[in-house]
Amino acid sequence: MTRTQVGIVGAGPAGLMLSHLLHLAGISSVILETRSRKAIEETIRAGVLEQNTVDLMTETGIGDRLKREGFVHHGFDFRFEGHSHRIDLTKLTDGRSITVYAQHEVLKDLIQARLAAGADIRFEVKEVALHDVTGSPRITFTDKDGKAGEVACEIVAGCDGSYGVSRHTIPQENRRDFLRIYPFGWFGILAEAPPSSDELIYARHERGFALISTRSPEVQRMYFQCDPSDSVDNWSDDRIWEELQTRTEGEGFRLKEGRIFQKNIVPMRSFVCEPMQYGKLFIAGDAAHTVPPTGAKGLNLAVADVFVLSRAIERYLKSGNDDGLQGYSAKALKRIWRAQHFSWWMTSMLHRFDDASEFDRRRQLAELELVTSSEAAARAVAENYVGLPLN
Ligand code: PHB
Repeated sequence: MTRTQVGIVGAGPAGLMLSHLLHLAGISSVILETRSRKAIEETIRAGVLEQNTVDLMTETGIGDRLKREGFVHHGFDFRFEGHSHRIDLTKLTDGRSITVYAQHEVLKDLIQARLAAGADIRFEVKEVALHDVTGSPRITFTDKDGKAGEVACEIVAGCDGSYGVSRHTIPQENRRDFLRIYPFGWFGILAEAPPSSDELIYARHERGFALISTRSPEVQRMYFQCDPSDSVDNWSDDRIWEELQTRTEGEGFRLKEGRIFQKNIVPMRSFVCEPMQYGKLFIAGDAAHTVPPTGAKGLNLAVADVFVLSRAIERYLKSGNDDGLQGYSAKALKRIWRAQHFSWWMTSMLHRFDDASEFDRRRQLAELELVTSSEAAARAVAENYVGLPLN
């Protein structure tokens, strides 16, 4: 049996960042993860970091590669009816910006920093189960060689994503789940091509939403709204480019095309579990909530959760004061519901809804006119997009 102060389930952004922050505060943790290190470091996810996330990574010593390889963006475009309208993030938010740096790159940096500091991360474990989380918590599992393992700890952090065991350890009668499923998904591609735009483009078109993002001067990330039950096999490269070109057309704009080397379809959901605590189990990141990617909030929310949680744990373990821990769920949920609103707002403003009436379509365009012509409305978008301050 291994003893540690904090048992962390999951080596995604929440689990790894929590372990990193706790380590800097002199608190021990063990991380249990079902996937391999390689799988974690190769899974393609979103790529927008809020200023808060960048600042936290920089201040805690894991921002060097991000500084060198990330791309700072001071604005993005809303594109509709064949025209682009820039949202000047930096001007509208007193100098804040976002950084495009892929989530799996953040994970590589975190894993490397944790292992260099001697962290105990068990990859490829199976059958993870939480026990006695309202008393003396223990986590049991089978290690990658098939041997039974056990971690005893004072606090359990459930950072094991939407499909992990942690949330389900909270009895149904002690929690409430809020779920909205959108009737569409995002088809994502990675293409070997130069950037078509200096900044991200969020496009609304009669055929559906499209997003033009980037990864590097050589690799571009793009998405288009699709049927969530569609298959990537139905989409040849030519068909994909034609769809993306159509949805972003106007003012002579043309996407620069290239070889597509990755295709995937992601479903779109909004989900929140309340509260994010059961006894000494605290859930964070996707284990507690999911946002549709339109607001680029997923990873940033996970980081914000564990920032609050790490401080609460530190206070409890160092002084016995559990006010922070008891207040964690309410404090985190405030930010989460703001991000839920923003993500839903961006999604509803930009996507095609098959059951929309003509009235709904006109109203949707009027809303885009509002956020691109009123400075007050544009500022509301910008403040949410760059991220509410961490506290
Ligand atoms: C991405 O680059 O993967 C990306 C960017 C912005 C979003 C979602 C995903 O809103």
